[in-house]
Parts: sequence; C-alpha cells; structure tokens
Amino acid sequence: MLFKFFVVVIFLGYLTLLGLILVRQLFHPRKSEPVHKKYSEFDDFRGEVVLELQDVEKSFDHPVLKGINLKLSRGQTLGVLGKSGSGKSVALKLIAGLLKPDRGHILFKGKDITTMSERELLELRKRVSYVFQGGAVFDFLNVRENIAYPLREMGISDEERIRERVDYLLTAVEMENMGDLHKDELSSGSKKQVAIARAIANNPEMILYDEPTTGVDPIIKKSLSRLIRKVNKQEHLTSIVVTHDLKCTEIVADRIILLKDGGIHFEGNKEEFHASSDPYVQAFIAGKRFEEEEQPLSA
Ligand SMILES: Nc1ncnc2c1ncn2[C@@H]1O[C@H](COP(=O)(O)OP(=O)(O)O)[C@@H](O)[C@H]1O
Ligand SMILES: [Mg+2]
Repeated sequence: MLFKFFVVVIFLGYLTLLGLILVRQLFHPRKSEPVHKKYSEFDDFRGEVVLELQDVEKSFDHPVLKGINLKLSRGQTLGVLGKSGSGKSVALKLIAGLLKPDRGHILFKGKDITTMSERELLELRKRVSYVFQGGAVFDFLNVRENIAYPLREMGISDEERIRERVDYLLTAVEMENMGDLHKDELSSGSKKQVAIARAIANNPEMILYDEPTTGVDPIIKKSLSRLIRKVNKQEHLTSIVVTHDLKCTEIVADRIILLKDGGIHFEGNKEEFHASSDPYVQAFIAGKRFEEEEQPLSA
C-alpha cells in the first residue's frame, strides 16, 4: 500500500515537473542567438587616423589650396568633389608626396611627409598607391604581366608566388579570364581595372584615385565605382577618390568633401550632401544632373 502511494507521488511529481517545463517553454521560449549589432566596416579600425592635413596651403601663379584641414581614419574612403581647376589633383599630389605644400603639414600615420627625404618618400610611395587619371596600361605586356610588373619591380622573382598573387588580383578586379589580353583588346573600363589591380599589387595601405571614371563608357561608370568600393573594403584600404563625378562619389565614399575657392566648402556624408541647403552644394548637384541628362546625346 505504502509502496503504491510512493509510486503515485513520484509519478505525480514527475508529471508536475514535465508540466512546469512545458509552461516555461511556452511562456519563456529559449532565447534565440544574441542579436549582434550591425557589423560595421570600421569596427576594427575605429579612431585610427591614417592621414591628417593641417592648414595645408599651395599656390602656383594663384592660390590653389588655402588652409585645408582634414583627417581620414583607417579603412575610410573620402570622396573629394570640386569643379575643374578647384585643386583636387593638386591635393592628391601633395598627399602622395609628389608636390610640397607652401605651408602646413601632411601626416601619414603620424609622420610628416612634408619634411621627408627623397629616400623616405620612396618608402612612402610603396605604401601609398596612386591611380593616375590616365591609368596607363603598358601596351607591350598582357594584362597578367601588367599586374605582375610592380611585383617584379619590388624584386619578387619567385614565379609561383607571382602567379598566385596575379590570380588573386585578377579575381579582385573581376578580370579572371582576361589575363592574356593586351591593351588594344581592353575597354576603357577594363584598362582602369588593370590600373587598380596594379595599384594594389604590393599591398599598399592607402590608395589615391584621380578621376577614376573619367574617359570611361558612361554605362560602365557605375560598375567601376562599385568595384572600387569593393576593392577598398576587401583590401582594408584607406582611400581618397578625387572626381567631379557625383555618382561615383556617392557609391565609393564614406565621407564627402566639396572644394571651393581653395577651401573645404562642405564636409559630410552622402545624405547630408543631398540634404544640404547650401546654394553652392545645390548648384553643384543640379549641375551634375544637367551633365547626366546631356550625356546620352553627346555619347
Ligand atoms: N604644376 C602646376 N603648375 C602650375 N599650375 C598648376 C600646376 N598644377 C596645377 N596647377 C593649377 O592649379 C589649379 C588646380 O589644378 P588641379 O588640382 O589640377 O584641378 P582639378 O580640381 O581639376 O584637379 C589649376 O588652376 C591649375 O592650373
Ligand atoms: Mg584633376
């Protein structure tokens, strides 16, 4: 009798426990995976300033840049807008150490490049790549050898290592099957892709693009801009893209500056740029729209 009583008590206890577990599951379902905050491309690099311009001035026969101040964090892409002659290319050449400012300082990772010796500048240029407006592709070399060129220049002679690196770079610029082509077989956009692959071949830390979409077929401008964005992020490059192509800037840049009369007239992101009530910003945007509408006719 006593035994039966215990069995019933244990059974009821067991049922109660099961019931409790069920109720708990129903009302307090097991938490799903913790919700991570949205991954930010800059999480790894937050706050590390790679480039800083302090009161940079440059004149030729007239003042071109008058007191430029800016900071660029690691992994960020800065879009520099401005009408023709506003000093965009001059700014880029100053940053690459190809020109010296009349006044002010340009710090790359804390080191003032304006006081660097030629030897130090050569070292700097290994870490800072420059994609020139012309983006020259050697016509005596095929695409593979064009891309391998800076590797060989650096003294790498291990053919297997070069082949692997070129394969990687061809994929990075989406030219996997185009390694054997020569310059005259390439579209204007593909020539730029080769120039980009060559610029990133030696793993630079910073990359400077001067008018990357100029001279490129209008329908290719967008995909080329997207490619630049992808490459910058994939290779963790700090980058400056100088252009008068607003669309390109909007695709590639994390932050935009607009040059006017030798100064930074606007600084902000794409949304802020479009929302700006500043008459010059609005005129710049309106001007670009007009230019785009004109394109199909002139093309
Ligand atoms: N090496 C130079 N010698 C003299 N003037 C120059 C030189 N480089 C640029 N400039 C002048 O500086 C101004 C800005 O040029 P640039 O930076 O090329 O303009 P953009 O914004 O079109 O790239 C222009 O008036 C140009 O004529
Ligand atoms: Mg220019």
